[in-house]
Amino acid sequence: MKIITIIGARPQFIKSAAVSRAIKQHNALSSHSDTLEEAIVHTGQHYDQKMSDIFFKELEIPEPAINLNIGSGSHGFQTGQMLIRIEALLLSEKPDIVLVYGDTNSTLAGALAAVKLHLPIAHVESGLRSFNKRMPEEHNRIVTDHISTLLFCPTKTSIENLTREGISEGVHLVGDVMFDSVLYNFELAQKKSAILDRLSLIPKTYALATIHRAENTDHAERLKKIIQAFEDTAKSKIQIVIPMHPRTRKRIAELNIDVKYSMIIEPVSYLDMLLLEKHASFIFTDSGGVQKEAYWAKVPCITLRDETEWVETVASGWNFLAGADYGSIIASLENRTVAKQSTSLYGNGNASQLIIRELLRMNGKAAL
Ligand code: UD1
Ligand code: UDP
Repeated sequence: MKIITIIGARPQFIKSAAVSRAIKQHNALSSHSDTLEEAIVHTGQHYDQKMSDIFFKELEIPEPAINLNIGSGSHGFQTGQMLIRIEALLLSEKPDIVLVYGDTNSTLAGALAAVKLHLPIAHVESGLRSFNKRMPEEHNRIVTDHISTLLFCPTKTSIENLTREGISEGVHLVGDVMFDSVLYNFELAQKKSAILDRLSLIPKTYALATIHRAENTDHAERLKKIIQAFEDTAKSKIQIVIPMHPRTRKRIAELNIDVKYSMIIEPVSYLDMLLLEKHASFIFTDSGGVQKEAYWAKVPCITLRDETEWVETVASGWNFLAGADYGSIIASLENRTVAKQSTSLYGNGNASQLIIRELLRMNGKAAL
């Protein structure tokens, strides 16, 4: 079975690493007729060394067969360029299935190119909804789900979301591949990462923060309020470490926002991030992946968004939605209640294996 995996943004490298590893393990044990041949297409949506290469090296992701080097641009330009290049590639490679992850422009372009050529699409992290149609991610995931053949859902909520939209065929509850990733990599992080020493951080005496969402970075008032809350917290309560997404760094410079007290650092590797998360007292974030990683690390999370797709983290008491409201962000530090945790909310850590099982089933049916 020939699989073309289309990825291009940081969280997709991390998600696909788990599945690529499982494919490798499957091939090592399987007969020739069952072999899964995976070719990775990197769209080039993320391209800085610390947003891309670092993950391929650290997570031993197979080298991409091709990097389309599309880079940054407006949504239409970026997605359109990807669509043109991916279509040409799919026409020449003729895969049995196209595998896409999450909800970025790379996801949408990969799925659109495939469906127009009548190629089956497998969507990992299907069924997530924020119900906020101003988010680019919401358009990307809705369209991708409606044209996918196999829909791999991380949670029961995501299945319910699909059911409400009339999608039931090809839907599989497999759990979250990011949980597979954390289980596999956390021990490695403990052995290999020296990030705490490098930054002279003492466990549980700092907060970790990430911001990159368009809804925060593209709205000056929201970004200013969030940074003000960080600065006041860093000045008077607890050190704040911010591995900063290049998008946010650019906006902070453009808006001349003064950051004196928070510790801004370059984006870090995945293993460094897992360690920073585990030893933080709190995590502030607008990232999807980081909200769940906070939950798995058993660290309280304050989400800088007005809604979340990962509603289970909020319902279980580990995640608090503060939006970009200064008062809520500050108050959430005081008022947080830590609830009991059930680690099975996002599956059993074998999502990648379950995905491979379904891919093989589909291939078996096609061969009949
Ligand atoms: C994208 C995804 C978002 C995901 C995030 C993960 C879309 C619409 N958004 O957002 O869902 O959560 O990735 O990180 O697909 N830039 C660099 N170097 C890079 C990459 C980006 O400098 O390597 C800067 C550029 O100025 C670029 C900006 O960041 O214009 C935004 O990058 P882009 O990939 O368009 O969106 P993200 O904010 O990264
Ligand atoms: N991450 C990382 N280094 C960083 C920031 C994030 O390795 O400096 C990881 C993080 O641990 C998670 C993933 O990137 O696994 C989340 O990606 P991001 O926040 O960019 O996107 P989102 O999940 O919001 O789509």
